[in-house]
Amino acid sequence: MSPRTTAPEDAYTAEPFVPDDGADLAALREAAAGCRGCPLHRDATQTVFGAGDAGARLMLVGEQPGDQEDRQGRPFVGPAGRLLDRALSEAGLDPGEAYVTNAVKHFKFTRAEPRGRRIHKAPSLREAAACGPWLAAELALVEPELIVVLGATAGKALLGSSFRVTKARGTVLEREVHGRPRRLVPTVHPSAVLRAEDREGAYRGLVSDLKVAATALP
Ligand code: URA
Ligand code: SF4
Repeated sequence: MSPRTTAPEDAYTAEPFVPDDGADLAALREAAAGCRGCPLHRDATQTVFGAGDAGARLMLVGEQPGDQEDRQGRPFVGPAGRLLDRALSEAGLDPGEAYVTNAVKHFKFTRAEPRGRRIHKAPSLREAAACGPWLAAELALVEPELIVVLGATAGKALLGSSFRVTKARGTVLEREVHGRPRRLVPTVHPSAVLRAEDREGAYRGLVSDLKVAATALP
C-alpha cells in the first residue's frame, strides 16, 4: 500500500478549527478563514463565511460559494444571489435583514478548456459533512427563528441524506438540527431557477415557497 499523504476522506472535518463556545461571529469568521478541514481550501481563493447580523430572525442556507462569491469573499453576490434577493423582496422578506450562509464555505470547481473558466462542481456529502461544524456554530450564535433551506446540499447538511427538495419544498418543517429544535422551510436553489428550462415557472415556485417562509416567520 502506498503511504497516505492526505487525510482519509472520512477524516475530513472543520472541527479542530472551530473556536470554543463564547466566540462571536467575527471570531468565527476569522477562524474559518484558516480552515483546512477538507481539501476544498486548496484551490479556492478564500473562505466565504456567512454574512449578516447575529440578531437576524431569518437564516438562508445555500450550497457553496460560486465564482463571484469566491472572488469577493461574500455569499450570494453573483447571479444566483441577485435572483434570490429579488425573489425574497417579492415574497415580502427583506434580503438585508437575513443572515445568509452556505453549507460549504469553499468554492469547488473544475476548469473548462480552452480558457480555463471555472465551472461549479457540487460538493460531496463528505465535504458538506466536514464543513458542518461551521454551520452548526453559525446556527448556535444566530439562533434564527426560521431557516430557509436552498436546495439539496443545504437540505442534506441540515436534515440528513434522505432529504428531498421535491417532497419538502414550500412546507414548514419542525426538526432537530444539531440537537436543537428548528423551524425550516425548504425550497429550490436559486441557481436551479437560472438553469431551468421554464425559468419563469421555476422563479414563481421559488417566490411561492418564500411566501410560506414569510408567513411562518413569527
Ligand atoms: N450559490 C450558493 O449556494 N451560494 C452562494 O453563495 C452563491 C451561489
Ligand atoms: Fe474547511 Fe469547509 Fe473549507 Fe472544507 S470547505 S476547508 S471544511 S471551510
